[in-house]
Amino acid sequence: MPVPRLLSDTAPAHGAVRTPRSWLHSDVPSLSLNGEWRFRLSPSADLPDDVASPSLDDAAWDSLPVPAHWVLQGDGRYGRPIYTNVQFPFPIEPPFVPDENPTGDYRRHFDLPAGWPDDARIVLRFDGVESLYRVWVNGTEAGAASGSRLAHEFDVTDLVRAGANLLSVRVHQWSAASYLEDQDQWWLPGIFRDVTLSARPADGLEDVWLRTGFADGRGTIDPEVTATDDAFPVTLRLPELGVEVVWATPAEVAPVAIGAVDPWTAESPRLYDATVASRGETVSLRVGFRTVEIRGDRFLVNGRRVVFHGMNRHETHPERGRVFDEEHARAELIRMKRFNVNAIRTSHYPPHPRLLDLADELGFWVVLECDLETHGFEKAGWRDNPSDDPRWRDAYLDRMRRTVERDKNHPAIVMWSLGNESGTGANLAAMSAWVHDRDPERPVHYEGDYTGEYTDVYSRMYSSVPETEQIGTDGSLAPLLGCTPAQGARQRTKPFLLCEYAHAMGNGPGALDQYEALADAHPRLHGGFVWEWRDHGILTRTADGTPFYAYGGDFGEVVHDGNFVMDGMVLSNDLPTPGLHEFAAVAQPVALTFSEGAEQLIVANRRHSASAADLTLQWRVEHDGRETASGVLEAPTVAAGDAERVALPAVPRSDDGETWLTVEAVLSEDAPWAPAGHVVARAQLDRTPSRAARRGSPAAAEWRDSAGTVDLGLASFDRGGLVRLAGRRASGPRLELFRAPTDNDEGAASSDPTYSDASIAGVSSAQLWREQGLDRLTHRLVSVQEAPGALRTVTRVSAANSVDSVTVETIWAAIDGELELRVEIEPTAGWPSVWPRIGVRFDLPDDGSPIDTAEWFGTGPLESYPDSTRAAYVGRFRASIDQLNVEYARPQETGHRTAVREVDLGTFAFTTLADSRGRLPGFSLSRHTPQQVAAARHPHELPTSDTTHLFVDAAQHGLGSRACGPDVWPEFALRPEARTLQVRFRA
Ligand code: GAL
Repeated sequence: MPVPRLLSDTAPAHGAVRTPRSWLHSDVPSLSLNGEWRFRLSPSADLPDDVASPSLDDAAWDSLPVPAHWVLQGDGRYGRPIYTNVQFPFPIEPPFVPDENPTGDYRRHFDLPAGWPDDARIVLRFDGVESLYRVWVNGTEAGAASGSRLAHEFDVTDLVRAGANLLSVRVHQWSAASYLEDQDQWWLPGIFRDVTLSARPADGLEDVWLRTGFADGRGTIDPEVTATDDAFPVTLRLPELGVEVVWATPAEVAPVAIGAVDPWTAESPRLYDATVASRGETVSLRVGFRTVEIRGDRFLVNGRRVVFHGMNRHETHPERGRVFDEEHARAELIRMKRFNVNAIRTSHYPPHPRLLDLADELGFWVVLECDLETHGFEKAGWRDNPSDDPRWRDAYLDRMRRTVERDKNHPAIVMWSLGNESGTGANLAAMSAWVHDRDPERPVHYEGDYTGEYTDVYSRMYSSVPETEQIGTDGSLAPLLGCTPAQGARQRTKPFLLCEYAHAMGNGPGALDQYEALADAHPRLHGGFVWEWRDHGILTRTADGTPFYAYGGDFGEVVHDGNFVMDGMVLSNDLPTPGLHEFAAVAQPVALTFSEGAEQLIVANRRHSASAADLTLQWRVEHDGRETASGVLEAPTVAAGDAERVALPAVPRSDDGETWLTVEAVLSEDAPWAPAGHVVARAQLDRTPSRAARRGSPAAAEWRDSAGTVDLGLASFDRGGLVRLAGRRASGPRLELFRAPTDNDEGAASSDPTYSDASIAGVSSAQLWREQGLDRLTHRLVSVQEAPGALRTVTRVSAANSVDSVTVETIWAAIDGELELRVEIEPTAGWPSVWPRIGVRFDLPDDGSPIDTAEWFGTGPLESYPDSTRAAYVGRFRASIDQLNVEYARPQETGHRTAVREVDLGTFAFTTLADSRGRLPGFSLSRHTPQQVAAARHPHELPTSDTTHLFVDAAQHGLGSRACGPDVWPEFALRPEARTLQVRFRA
């Protein structure tokens, strides 16, 4: 077929492409063709077919590894990655793509292994090539295929010969298929998964599907064997269960009652080794017994409701892109388990097939999604959307079929997903019908089917807390996206899941606990999948060699979506964010609470089916963060869904400090994913006897005007301003209302009335802050006064061209060898929007000994914000300035510790006093001001600094998830208000 026609052809494949089948571990002879290939990149697709010619001399070509993406090889020699979310990086003119179409020619020689059976079919398998490719063997075309994250097999029996062979592959970056692969990720062309040649015997097993079931303690296997008559007899063996069944003919293949087995669940992923052997081939599988079903509005596995504490997982790595690395994938899955993640949605395409073996083994509920997204058509109101265009029907069905057939044996997969953000239409309905016919057991998911015309579960992304609650509530006709009231009522008869929620971009998300509470309160709500597991940063270097994680725009893309691809719970360098710690705390599988009167601990087992017998309950008592007693509680065995009470020890109280009891549920023994002692759940109880709050000292009465150049205790002042503190240069306190906007602060308010947006649709909080000049406040010293042992200043703070202002009164007083500071912050009426923070900043120049570590008593160990506090607990912590702050892909607010009691910075320390409503301030320590942080696009762009900045904040605005979702919940939004800050410094 001429190249232009092939590129615009909506048919998924041509030539000797074989019927899709399971990815099986087989003993047939095979040869990996991974390794170095000859490679040549051309800027256009319209090339002579010389790539296939055995006489072509490719000696001058480069060498490129397979699997790899060519844009991630050769330091830019082969082009650069492109990041877009919804946008297409080419004109929208389906099914055509531009002539500027990077095309990679690959060649390699291989020797057909001697001894491969003569009567075998020789099969060439590609597990992933982006996006359209043609294959030739010894100069003859075997076929062409598209479907980047799907496997294709070509029958090349008639093309190979004994001894040396030439394999040629031409890969086009853009093709008609690109319109179906508009997922929010980097565009990364190339042969990026394995290439394998195998010899399939005539009496081999073309396909095997061991469907399992579990009920009443017993397992069943409903087998499907695809093989010729010659392959029989076929034997199924499960040695551990003493099962050996021989089927003499295809007609004999029938369900097998297995007897007593342990079921497979994500919590106890019990697998049994099985083999299926024909005359010519043996395949090995790991079988898990489980039954998936929907009953009414419940989604059940083995008869019990599943709650997804899930992550959307893309395959992405800073150096390899979507190239699979088993060790790294295993480490990722282990990390998920450690953070109480129990489910994965394979957004938005099938992962490397081996990932599903790992999911079976480690235990995850998996929603396996097809490689499909046509989001870019939304821009034009879904005009020409392939999802509803018959020309694309075969391509849609082919994608779904390849998805299901490849992975159908995995017990971990409990749902199939048709794809993501592809509008709606007949082709999606056809995919669903095909799945229902092929695999009636597993439900079909697709979020875009708002009215539920062809899917089995109701799914949404980023629905707000109030709307999600409405979905969980019976009898509600509250409006649901895309539904009439009646359609909405019907959707409410199905199990509901959030296929995406809690957009984890930058610092955030807030409100994880609010979503969690909904799943506890409304059984129809089955939890969801955070967007998303990890940042997609690509490791690159600046011109001067500084390494950094690139995002959209860093490679000079014509259209791109900036750092919207950096929205993970794990940073590009594998570091879990505080957001992931928050998730772990919210999703903890046992809930620990205290009875009224604090005599008992209540242990509620929130698991699907596993008991809590694997956990030990350990406790400790701390006085002002220092341990005074500890022990282990006599733990009862709590069955899933049950709660038990455990007596608590007597807690010795501190006379003058705070007394906290901490209980932790830890693994008693090593699990495959964490060592014994790993903390699974934690709870704290404040046992501080109530006593009068520490009050600040009354302000001196005898004020007289002063030049303000005085020494007071451990500090010196000049014209009312601090110049030295505990022997080092210092300045402040300076009112700070600005924080470097988080990605959520930069998110524009939506028009969804339930998104609790504090501002005008289309406008971000950050924009309002900048418009009001919060990042460029100016100061006017109104007065300086002195009294014996005390100093008082009044400053008016405002911004250019603003009538709004804040009056800041500071009173310093030397008391008992300490220096007390009281700051009154009083805004005028009329400030129009929420504020990022209400606090003060101190600047502490290095002068040879930088302040670079803090020890504190308060909440920690990680940063916390008003709507993300569940991972923070009260204790005594120590961290370096680098550990205090998170290196988000785009620099932004970080490092705030709420409710701090005491901070020791080495040369000086300070304690805090609660305000009249009992609120304690928070603190952060940074090498940069918020203004500097806000100006940097990447961490390496931050200027070098010779000063440490200490922030003491009376309050911070919450986080929300407005980068793609609801704004900060009103309760946690910071309104301009009067606040009092009180701290006491000591040397
Ligand atoms: C969703 C989409 C995801 C991702 C996310 C925002 O709409 O399904 O792929 O783009 O938004 O990060």
